[in-house]
This record gives sequence, structure tokens and C-alpha cells, in this order.
Amino acid sequence: MPNAYISGTGFFAPPRVVTNDDLIKEYGIDTTNEWIVQRTGIEERHYADEGVATSDLAVEATRIALKNAGLEAHDLDMIVFATLSPDHCFPGSGVYLQKKLGLCEGPKAKFIPALDVRNQCSGFVYALSTATAMIKAGVYKHVLVVGAELHSHSLDLTTRGRMVSCLFGDGAGAVVLSATDEDRGVRAWKLGADGRFADKLSQPIWDISKKPFMPLDANGVGQVAPEMMWAQMDGKLVFRHAVERMVTVLMETCIEAGITGNDIDLFLFHQANLRINQYIQNEVLKLPDSKFIHNIQRFGNTTAATIPSLLHEAVESGRLKRGMKVACVAFGSGFTWGSVIIEW
Ligand code: ACO
Repeated sequence: MPNAYISGTGFFAPPRVVTNDDLIKEYGIDTTNEWIVQRTGIEERHYADEGVATSDLAVEATRIALKNAGLEAHDLDMIVFATLSPDHCFPGSGVYLQKKLGLCEGPKAKFIPALDVRNQCSGFVYALSTATAMIKAGVYKHVLVVGAELHSHSLDLTTRGRMVSCLFGDGAGAVVLSATDEDRGVRAWKLGADGRFADKLSQPIWDISKKPFMPLDANGVGQVAPEMMWAQMDGKLVFRHAVERMVTVLMETCIEAGITGNDIDLFLFHQANLRINQYIQNEVLKLPDSKFIHNIQRFGNTTAATIPSLLHEAVESGRLKRGMKVACVAFGSGFTWGSVIIEW
């Protein structure tokens, strides 16, 4: 059975930086830099311009990942695309990415499968686990795994929406997962979900049980109430469950891999909130800062893109080296959670 290892990483964030003070000055949101930094660690995030779609961010990240893997788009056998902010309701963003990578044109056209994963903040670990299973089954040699989000066009950037809006930013991460006979790569993964909390962190937009699925005005134009249109979150409940689930799934994955938490060289936690991660690090795991990387300060919460962005930074900065063990752990809407341990 082949092993599945990450042969290349990439990350891209749109150039426009929006600081906490910009949320006040540009958008008129009643908040302060201190409130946001104290509770979340976030200092700034990146917002895409009008006309840019999630798949555009993904293309940039993919090009970097392919270059680092020494591959071309035509070497790919499959795309797995994790996002909660797809270009459209349907089809998924994977097919837009496939087209933008030039895979559908010319004599070398290659109509590889494109799978969209809708597991929000856990999307990347779900996608990476799925791709690993494909590689280990011997079905594919190179699978592109993307986590990409364009949040800023669907945030309530007013004081009404400040609790959620101050948290999120735009960005895309990508890895190429490749087959190898070497003794390395993904060692174990564990995924979970608890649908009892599905409504506690959600962006419903419509209710398909209703006929029609959203109210229409006298002219037949759809009307979306603010609580349906914008993401809703029970922040304190999310915080509590995130701590519990991330710790438990990490331990379960260590057991599956036959190691303990002390054997892990680098922890890459989903960047939802610096306080959640520091609580787990300091109060539960009691491990030194040198084993953790965070970038929420610069990018905010980029949902499915947080873990591939950290992987890319860890590789580029030289902190992640061959032979090291890295744990990727995420929790998010659903609730869903997951963890993947990789021997680099
Ligand atoms: N600026 C100023 N005040 C604000 C802001 C803001 N941006 N947002 C909310 N407030 C106000 C609220 O209106 C509320 O005011 P009120 O008490 O007058 O009603 C008050 O601040 C709430 O303050 P706290 O109780 O201190 O808020 P809390 O400590 O719960 O912090 C937070 C909120 C940061 C969202 C916290 O609950 C949290 O970290 N939750 C985890 C959720 C999370 O990380 N979500 C990310 C997405 S999910 C994911 O990726 C897993």
C-alpha cells in the first residue's frame, strides 16, 4: 500500500489588508482594536476586491503548491476543494478551479474528478483524510487538496454583525498529496461530527423546507432576512466545544498513530481564535510555544484555509523539516472536527 505525503504547499491571500482600526474607520463598526485583540488575537485580515471569487484565490495557492511539488496541473489526478464560501451555491468550486488551471482545454485536456467538501473549519482535515484514503487505496498518485475562503463579500460589516465579522478573513491554502513507497506521510487521522449543534454556527440563507425556499416580495424578488443572510454564532458555546473536541480528537489520533502528544514536534491548530488555542496549549497540553505556529494575528480566521496556510508557513520558514511529526487539528460549524498526524 503506498503512503501519502505532502509533496508541495502553497498559500495566497488577497493583497488588501484590513486592520481592526479599518473596521472602525472604513466600515463604521462600533468596536475597538483592544476588544478584538484581547478576545481573538486578530490584528488584521485580508479582503478580496469585487470581482474576485474563491476559486481565483485557490488558483494562486495551487500554482505555488504545484511549483513546490515540481509538478504541473496536468500531473494531478483529482481535486478535493474544501470551502464554506463557494463561488456559487452549485456547482462546487472544484470545477471552477479545474477550468481555471487550464485542465479542460487543449490537446492535454484532463477531466479529473473534482470533489467539494463542505465541512467548514474542519474542511481541510476532512479533505486531506479523503485524499489520503484515495492515495493509500492506490487509486490516484497526485491529489490537489485545497482549503479556500472568500468571507469578506458575505460578512455583515456593520455594528449589528460585529461579533462574527471581526473574526474572518480571505485566503486560500493548497497542498499536493502524492503517493510514495517511502516510510513517511500521513500516519493517522480521526474525524467527528455532532449535528445537535448544527444551528449554533451557521449561515442558513434559505430554508429549503419552505415553498418557495425564501420569501418573495410582491414582484417575485427573493427577500432574505438578516438572521438568514449573515452567519450566526453562539460564540461561548463554540469556544467550549472547540476546546473539548480538539483535545479529544488529537489524543485519539495520537493513539491511532501509536505515539503520545509529547512525540509531536509541531501543532497546527485551526485559527479560529488565539484564546482557544492558547487555552489548549497552556492549560491542557502544557507544551512550549516552540511547538506551535499561529497566523490568526495577520489573517483572521480563514476557515478551511487556516491549516494549509500554517503548513506552508512552517515549510517556508524551515520550522517543518523531514522526519518531524506534525499534528493538524480543527473544529468548526456542524459541529465537526478532525485531526491528521503527518510524519514529514
Ligand atoms: N467589538 C466590540 N464589542 C463587541 C464585538 C466587537 N467586535 N462583538 C461583540 N461585542 C459585544 C457584544 O455585543 C456583547 O455586548 P453586550 O454584552 O452588551 O451584549 C459583548 O461584546 C460580548 O462580550 P463577551 O461576553 O466578552 O464576548 P465573548 O467573551 O463571548 O467573546 C467571542 C466573543 C470572541 C466571539 C468568543 O465567544 C469566542 O471566541 N468564541 C469562539 C467562537 C469562534 O472562535 N468562532 C470563530 C468561528 S468558528 C470556528 O472557526 C471554530
